[in-house]
Amino acid sequence: MAIDTSAASTIMLKKKPNSPLIVDPDSKFIDSIWNDRMTGLIPPVVSMTGMEALKILAQFKQPFSGVFINPLLTDQNPIAIVKASHHYHAGVPIYFLNDAGYDGLSNGELEKIGIQKKVQKPITYEEMIKLVTPAVMIFDPKAAIQAVEKDQEPVDTEVVAEDSQFFSVRSENFFSGKTIFFDVYIKMASGKYLKLLKAGDAFSIERITSYVKKGVTHFYLKKTTQEHYLNYCDKLVGAIVQSAKISTEIKVAQTFHHGEETLSFLKNAGVNKSSIDYAQGFITNLGHLVLQTEFTNNQVIGKFIKDMGSYEHGVGTAMIACLVSHYLGFSNEKAVHVIGIASLLHDIGLLNHSDAIRIEDEAQMNPQEKLIYYNHPITGAKIVSECAHIDPVVAQIIQQHHERVNRTGFPKKLGRGVILQMAEVVGMSDELFKLIHRAKSNPALNPLAEMENSVDYLFSKPIGAAFRAVFLGKKE
Ligand SMILES: [Fe+2]
Ligand SMILES: [Fe+2]
Repeated sequence: MAIDTSAASTIMLKKKPNSPLIVDPDSKFIDSIWNDRMTGLIPPVVSMTGMEALKILAQFKQPFSGVFINPLLTDQNPIAIVKASHHYHAGVPIYFLNDAGYDGLSNGELEKIGIQKKVQKPITYEEMIKLVTPAVMIFDPKAAIQAVEKDQEPVDTEVVAEDSQFFSVRSENFFSGKTIFFDVYIKMASGKYLKLLKAGDAFSIERITSYVKKGVTHFYLKKTTQEHYLNYCDKLVGAIVQSAKISTEIKVAQTFHHGEETLSFLKNAGVNKSSIDYAQGFITNLGHLVLQTEFTNNQVIGKFIKDMGSYEHGVGTAMIACLVSHYLGFSNEKAVHVIGIASLLHDIGLLNHSDAIRIEDEAQMNPQEKLIYYNHPITGAKIVSECAHIDPVVAQIIQQHHERVNRTGFPKKLGRGVILQMAEVVGMSDELFKLIHRAKSNPALNPLAEMENSVDYLFSKPIGAAFRAVFLGKKE
């Protein structure tokens, strides 16, 4: 069941607060965090190493509500994490998270290095949240649901709706204020269903409360959308995953923040609402795939997915690729899966290399780095081809994602007619993502104009036409 039932605790949020960052190598403690009911409402960002925490602090665009650091961290000096927090997230309160029995520096000494105070384990995630989240943002819905509480079935019970096209979900399950991915209906006294909310919108706490107060115990979703969605996730899962258990590093917060940069660009660029909804839904599905499955027995893919920068680049590329491929008519499920997975993993061959290589900026690479870079499509294809559950076309796409029809690409300098169209879709999306990313630090750069100048030289005609149609609104 993909419906979020995490909100069925007694504490609800009036407004979505920011996530805290927790840096602690103590796996038992981290497990206790993920098992805390509060994670369903405010998903934390967690790092078990100092190195990863530094990356997260540098790359995470959303503000944190607080940063909790275990001072007994060994792979990095904890003070480096404190400094990075001050540098990248000025003003965010920082706490030292002391193991039971460890006292460390006094609060006065900590204050000198800009640490709010130390907190002592054992501590629950809920207690940590209360430290960093203003009380005004937390809401207790008990009073709101009192009126209907007596008639309610136990949490998670579905009731059979008269109309077999619908299934019901308890109203409180929507209290998270999160974006809803399905159209939501209410059942009228007449037996008819009235559409309340469109997929992609969020249900405000106030609005749900008012329905609950009126005695609405359940909302209704259309079975068709739900089944389609679950099928899609299942198929994707089946396509990639051999073994499964969620990797703790990738949690809801990270997943949904990824792609935001691309999304806001698409909105500002005037891309139509239905395309944006489509891209958002597509990424949500990919996100769910990562959330619901342990990305693998294949350690390289698992590691790639945990790398924030790589993952963000993969998600942004996938978001653009889904729009382009949708326009080109890749609508069957298999094609959609292949494009999604290939976009997400296209740069897997860059893993474990220097930053210059990983950001694919040739200007910053030395000759040796360039050699590695020119070979990454082959390395990536090999990694993916060794994962039995990934469609072989994904490996081909990855191998060709830097090939260009004017033979300026690599690794094989292929030309017109021999490059897979799906590889071109991923290649063009990759280039556009990089332009969007570069434009953030160079406002003079217009990613769409830049792409329009080169798209017809580098890619085949249909790709240029799709680019112009989707991003410039020019139909040919
Ligand atoms: Fe690449
Ligand atoms: Fe790339």
